[in-house]
Amino acid sequence: MTSEPAQDLRAGPLEAGGRHERADGAQAGFGLYVHWPFCRAKCPYCDFNSYVAEAIEQGRWRRAYLAELERVAAETSGRRLRSVYFGGGTPSLMDPETVAELLAAARRLWRWEREVEVTLEANPGSCDPARLRAFRDAGVNRLSLGVQALDEEGLRRLGRTHDVATAIRAAEAGRRIFPILNLDLIYARPGQSLGGWMRELERALLLEPDHLSAYELTIEPGTPFARQHRAGRLSVPGEDRRAVFARRTLRRLEEAGFACYEVSNFARPGRMCRHNLIYWRAGDWLGIGPGAHGRLSLCGDRIATRAVRAPGLWLRAVEERGCGELVRERLGPREAAVEYAIMALRLAEGLDLDRLAGFLGAPWEELLDPEAVERLVEAGLLVLEDSRLCASAQGWLRLDALVRAILR
Ligand SMILES: C[S@@+](CC[C@H](N)C(=O)[O-])C[C@H]1O[C@@H](n2cnc3c(N)ncnc32)[C@H](O)[C@@H]1O
Ligand code: SF4
Repeated sequence: MTSEPAQDLRAGPLEAGGRHERADGAQAGFGLYVHWPFCRAKCPYCDFNSYVAEAIEQGRWRRAYLAELERVAAETSGRRLRSVYFGGGTPSLMDPETVAELLAAARRLWRWEREVEVTLEANPGSCDPARLRAFRDAGVNRLSLGVQALDEEGLRRLGRTHDVATAIRAAEAGRRIFPILNLDLIYARPGQSLGGWMRELERALLLEPDHLSAYELTIEPGTPFARQHRAGRLSVPGEDRRAVFARRTLRRLEEAGFACYEVSNFARPGRMCRHNLIYWRAGDWLGIGPGAHGRLSLCGDRIATRAVRAPGLWLRAVEERGCGELVRERLGPREAAVEYAIMALRLAEGLDLDRLAGFLGAPWEELLDPEAVERLVEAGLLVLEDSRLCASAQGWLRLDALVRAILR
């Protein structure tokens, strides 16, 4: 528990009296993201900031993260934490003691909401039950397991180093040990049939997750998959086919009691990911660790931060300069509003037009073309109710085009 800072930097004051009450991140929660940049192997489809390292000096990393926590707490210590997210890379390769120490420090540095969600991303290859129990004892209450596929050929084609049995054992252990279990799956993979995917989904449901992230395979520039794709050696389902996969996924998961609350994310009641909701609702979060991004409302401004990306350079920056942050910039009103619009349209709840106007400091019609909005509502791709604008299930299938069509 910490006392209030002398100068309250939690968020800029709401502008009273103006026509557009200023929006700020404080209204949508405050989270902490910790990026762990190492994996045992680099998957050929992945462009996350992750590296394979021969040896990791866990003690040095622990000290660097702790120093970064102290640094970022100095300007946010009065805030109340809603979530902590260890992402990567493969945070299940962190020493559990490091996770325990970071969480103890976070408890000391910020006040915590009543039920703080603490997620750790894990690869099935580093999930033996003793290790998972150590993470739970450290304070993790949500395990997010990168299962990706529940089919041997699918895992092989994705270049994963674990098999289906290992993924299932890890999910079963995760289910026993953690109150909340998420499984990450990737669909619309090379050579995957719709029937095959539906069988994988059934196997995933048998593992009784609270939450499923079902991502369509994206061919990310610069990855081995992108090179193979360009050379014609890797083909993925076309847009229409992907839409069929998405519709069937939605239908089956809704039948199974999950709500699709974000384009790729499905939750049982009460189990939406609180941390990711902070991103999608344009809340505030601190990002520490190599390449981590953050957003903060400070003194009435919306600030974007980005840390040094390369792990070795980040470590040196923290050790030698006492700061891993590389970029800190003030987002202009339009930038902040566009970011909010793009993220919030991914959500079933959609975007709040008053909040959008708050970010913009002007009527929302200055950012979104009301005629385009009306046309897309008539076409059944958008829904406008009170002051909320959401994509329909049809609209979600063409979200990028929708956003392009309505943004001025
Ligand atoms: C940081 S990883 C999760 C934990 C761990 N590194 C693992 O892979 O098991 C985040 C997730 O992003 C998804 N992902 C990464 N690259 C992707 C891509 N090109 N297309 C679709 N999903 C992708 C995967 O589902 C992955 O589980
Ligand atoms: S998908 Fe996960 S394990 Fe594979 S390279 Fe990316 S972060 Fe690492």
